[in-house]
Amino acid sequence: MRRRALIGNWKMHKTADEAGTYIREFLPLIQNIASVDVILAPPFTSLHVVAALVKDTSIGLAGQDVHWDSQGALTGEVSPAMLYDSGCQSVIIGHSERRQMFHEDDNAVNRKVKAAIAHHLTAIMCVGETREERANGKTSDVLTRQLLAGLAGIDAIDDTQLVLAYEPIWAIGSGTPATPTQANEVHAELREHLGTLFTTAIAKSIRIVYGGSITTENIQALLATPHVDGGLVGGACLDPSNFARIVSSAAN
Ligand code: 13P
Repeated sequence: MRRRALIGNWKMHKTADEAGTYIREFLPLIQNIASVDVILAPPFTSLHVVAALVKDTSIGLAGQDVHWDSQGALTGEVSPAMLYDSGCQSVIIGHSERRQMFHEDDNAVNRKVKAAIAHHLTAIMCVGETREERANGKTSDVLTRQLLAGLAGIDAIDDTQLVLAYEPIWAIGSGTPATPTQANEVHAELREHLGTLFTTAIAKSIRIVYGGSITTENIQALLATPHVDGGLVGGACLDPSNFARIVSSAAN
């Protein structure tokens, strides 16, 4: 059975001070929840503060992006080893905001995924179609391309190395989430591809989380479907009590 994962992507929110306040409020609210994996992805500047506060808890820490090189003249970039050293166990890769606003292509995503895995970080690899692509019946093509390109050249993988995140771009921050049926359909197809790429057993073990306008109201219905193994939460994770409610719903 796949353990559910709830990942809170803070995006570009919260100073280090605000991050500390968040964690102090959040911890007591989820301390009795053991059945789901909770992972927080604060901005790089708050990783140290959050890492120190969650050190003796089960909460995981993720970077929001990573460069594939180990070091170099790459102003503004952060390496996999730097994330690991900052207390991260995982990293979000290929978020649509990076693909769309920072021109990150499938090849960059692939290099980042490989580098993350090589440095013992779980790659949380995001895929997702635009509204137009869905309207034109291109969802399957787009997601297949992103998945195959993102995992190109990787012969073996396991559930500690990869979490897939399906984030339809039209659902992010829009207040219109994918329906549980839509999400489950896509997840089932992604899992089938994973089975072809690797093995059926591997495909069954890898978690595929959904992201896009998750709220306390819709999380349970999404998780009630067989292929949705958790959530990648944006706006609704920024308030600790709200995110704690989402985590509790996922645990029930
Ligand atoms: P929202 O939950 O704000 O729609 O964002 C989803 C997301 O992009 C998480 O990575």
